[in-house]
Amino acid sequence: MPYVITLSGSPADRSRSTHMLNTAEALLGERGIAVRRIDIRKLPAAALMVADTSNVQLREALEVVEHAQAVIIATPLYKSAYSGLLKIFLDALPQAALAQKPVLPLATGGSLAHLLALDYALKPVLASLGAQHVLSNVFATEQDVVWRDDRYVLAEPIAARLAEAIDAFVQVLEDAAELRRFRSNALVGPRPFRRTHARQSEQLVGQGSVGVFIQPETTY
Ligand SMILES: Cc1cc2nc3c(=O)[nH]c(=O)nc-3n(C[C@H](O)[C@H](O)[C@H](O)COP(=O)(O)O)c2cc1C
Repeated sequence: MPYVITLSGSPADRSRSTHMLNTAEALLGERGIAVRRIDIRKLPAAALMVADTSNVQLREALEVVEHAQAVIIATPLYKSAYSGLLKIFLDALPQAALAQKPVLPLATGGSLAHLLALDYALKPVLASLGAQHVLSNVFATEQDVVWRDDRYVLAEPIAARLAEAIDAFVQVLEDAAELRRFRSNALVGPRPFRRTHARQSEQLVGQGSVGVFIQPETTY
């Protein structure tokens, strides 16, 4: 069954970026989309540090990303870049792990000062892993994610922006599914076309013809 993988890159137990990720997961759940979650900080640290794929837990986490349909990544900004924890995990992924997968980045920072870090630091790494469709990120400052009554709460504009981003993400998933259905129908081909194609091909072969056979009136 297709699923979206959600990756939390914060080392913190109580984490604003992870709260954004939780909210994104809830929104996907409302739309009936299956989600699998990886909290990178919960993976075995020693194996993660040296990308030891003989470690079952790490290997399974990497495989879950590889087999996902799409990815949502949440990270805090650290020293004007995304978290080192996230980088270590991304480094352990195979080269084309994000090929054909839409990616939505979510991030939190102390202020807007380093907002562009997602563009100059994270995006090239995603591209090197094969990601071709990176959606517009959702960025929140510490003031946008406040601790209230024992839990984090998103400020209304960020909550709305996140909901918009999830709508766009779901639309991309639906478009991709539609394209896959279209392609698999085109590959199988409508029955009359296949019969005609086979009959006419046989005739051409019988006449000793070679080359590409095109039937212009066929619609896919
Ligand atoms: C070590 C460290 C470095 C940080 N560096 C930056 C930074 O360069 N730019 C920034 O905007 N915020 C920076 N911050 C603030 C965090 O990005 C911010 O608190 C964020 O919300 C933390 O996300 P989390 O709660 O998901 O871990 C830094 C925080 C820490 C602990």
